[in-house]
Amino acid sequence: MTRHSEAAAALRRVLGDPIYNRTLRKEVGRGELDYEVYLKTRELLALQTPANQLVVPDELMFQVMHQTQELWLKCSAFEAANLVEALDGEQLVNALRVLDRIIMMSRILADQIRVMFTLTPQQFAVIRKSLGNGSGLESPGYNQVLAAAHAAGDALGRLLGRRGTSLLDVYLQPDTHGELHHLAERFVDWDAAFQSWLVEHFQLVRRTIGIDKTVRALDGFPTVALGARMTRPLFAELWNVRVEMTKAWTREGGFAPGEERAALEAPIDPLIDEPRTVTVELSPIVKHHAREEFPLLATCTYLNSNATGATPRAARDALDGYWRTLANWRDEVWEQWWAELHAYADDLAALIHAPRGSVWCDSNVATLLGRVMSCSDFAARPRVITTDLEFPSIPFALRAWKRFGAERVIVASSDGVTPDIERLVRAIDERTQLVCISHATFATGAVVDIAPIVKRAREVGALVVLDAYQSVGIMPVDAPALGVDFLLAGAHKWLCGSYESAFLYVRPELIPRLEPAATGWIASANPLSFAPASEWADSARRFAGGTPAVLPALVSRPGLAIVRELGLDLIRALSLERSDRIIARAEEAGMRVVTPRPHAQRGGIVVLRFPNDAAVQRRLLAAGYVCSYRGGIRIAPHFYNTDQEIDGFMDELVRMAREAS
Ligand code: HEM
Repeated sequence: MTRHSEAAAALRRVLGDPIYNRTLRKEVGRGELDYEVYLKTRELLALQTPANQLVVPDELMFQVMHQTQELWLKCSAFEAANLVEALDGEQLVNALRVLDRIIMMSRILADQIRVMFTLTPQQFAVIRKSLGNGSGLESPGYNQVLAAAHAAGDALGRLLGRRGTSLLDVYLQPDTHGELHHLAERFVDWDAAFQSWLVEHFQLVRRTIGIDKTVRALDGFPTVALGARMTRPLFAELWNVRVEMTKAWTREGGFAPGEERAALEAPIDPLIDEPRTVTVELSPIVKHHAREEFPLLATCTYLNSNATGATPRAARDALDGYWRTLANWRDEVWEQWWAELHAYADDLAALIHAPRGSVWCDSNVATLLGRVMSCSDFAARPRVITTDLEFPSIPFALRAWKRFGAERVIVASSDGVTPDIERLVRAIDERTQLVCISHATFATGAVVDIAPIVKRAREVGALVVLDAYQSVGIMPVDAPALGVDFLLAGAHKWLCGSYESAFLYVRPELIPRLEPAATGWIASANPLSFAPASEWADSARRFAGGTPAVLPALVSRPGLAIVRELGLDLIRALSLERSDRIIARAEEAGMRVVTPRPHAQRGGIVVLRFPNDAAVQRRLLAAGYVCSYRGGIRIAPHFYNTDQEIDGFMDELVRMAREAS
């Protein structure tokens, strides 16, 4: 025996006995420690043939593979029962969470089985002699999953029935049935992952014993029959709906390749003509789960959503999924990411009642504003008008365009709370290129009626950029109805999304005539062709730059889904009710309420000022009452806060303010 194989033999002996762990100062492997007892490791690890009895070394892997696959199958079938429970109980957020888990497990099955591709036909031929007449069809886990999928499909059918709709309707109007469509697509993901497992299994069979009508399984089943079985769906209706839609498809309404196309009048997509329904009634999804969805809320009293919104639990799945994507990287992932980026942008567009294709995302507002600015010819119209109440990024970015001929004009507010609209309107004239103003002011909470600004800007041919970071997500915002040319906002505050996730809406009629000088390959018509680019994208994507920020979009989608699910009418109603409560308590305590009182003049925050307020904010923070300070204490309740939280927060605030005065 060589020295090397002696070492291997020694190692095998070591692995066969308990091992001394120096940190624990105990022997591990006897099955007596709490970990081992709880996990039944003694029994679990005795379930494989002992090393010295394996017919070939690969037999251990063969057994472990089957056993672990049985466990994952069992577990996913078990989860499917939870899925049925959640669907029948109208707990759709829960249902989606369970579905995500089942999908992940099914993908693991497909990934895992590929380990067996390392098994050679010759080794398997030896193992096979000891398998009796065993057949894969006898797999308990496989049979459980089939039964579980059947029951889950029925539960989905019942849900559709209760909602008075059909799968076909859901797929014909995905925007109207956003939640059901999302759910149905997750079922499709489960099915696709399960089929992928059987496809990998088919390859395994082909590698080991071959696929042919003459090659039979141990129970006589011809392997050739596996070919048709591996793509047999779990949820046939979900695939049939595609067939039905394609059958009903006609060529009418398209363009011949190369045919001249007139610029489309807004709306860009015919679907946007559908009346958009706003969910006012709190749906069961959020009613029962919105608060539980946000782990942050269990750690403190969180009234800081205007600075950073709480992030829903589901964002973690997006992060995990991103890691799994990286760990299994294939360039083809871009196709899916591309679709997800567009879907996210379109969901944002829907939120602000804008047509598909009118929104694009990038990491922050300053970047997007730079792209907007870079469309301008400042020689003809030098003026860029803004106010002294903007978030610092805006005036700073505008000033930087001086070297390209831009002349920044800052209109001062007369009360330091609300921009002086009359003065601003007077400042707009034929020299004005852009007017840049916040919808809701970040430091005071005041909301601006921008109608007179838009009207005046139109009269003189200037464009209006609305910074809606502090309004989108906490109050209804209808970009087309506001008439603004550009709207900027982002996800990490009221939309409960990720940092580095801002977005830009561009008035659709404007898109064809804007060509940003600050640009990159994603702004071109067909970037994934990798051909030299010359044409612009015909959507707001022409405001993209280089390789896009995918992760922030993926992480932001769950928060956006919850906000859309709740509906902004409801969120606004809750917000006003709670900020009224804060204002009443503050006034009672003699504090200065900076934010305007009338509902129409305020956004989601209440700003309070009193002696030593900055020190009080720091004390509040230390005591677990989270709010922010920007020249006053900013308190920002969101839909996930409770009245008790508001009262508890105000009790502390008033007490600390008294102590500090
Ligand atoms: C070298 C490894 C494997 C070979 C050669 C093999 C071979 C086969 C064959 C020939 C069939 C046809 C039906 C029958 O057996 O009567 C089959 C079906 C099946 N096998 Fe395997 N198998 C292997 C590994 C696995 C593993 C690791 C699993 C995991 C649990 C598995 C699960 C199944 C299932 C669920 C079926 C039924 C599929 C259907 O109805 O479409 N097999 N396998």
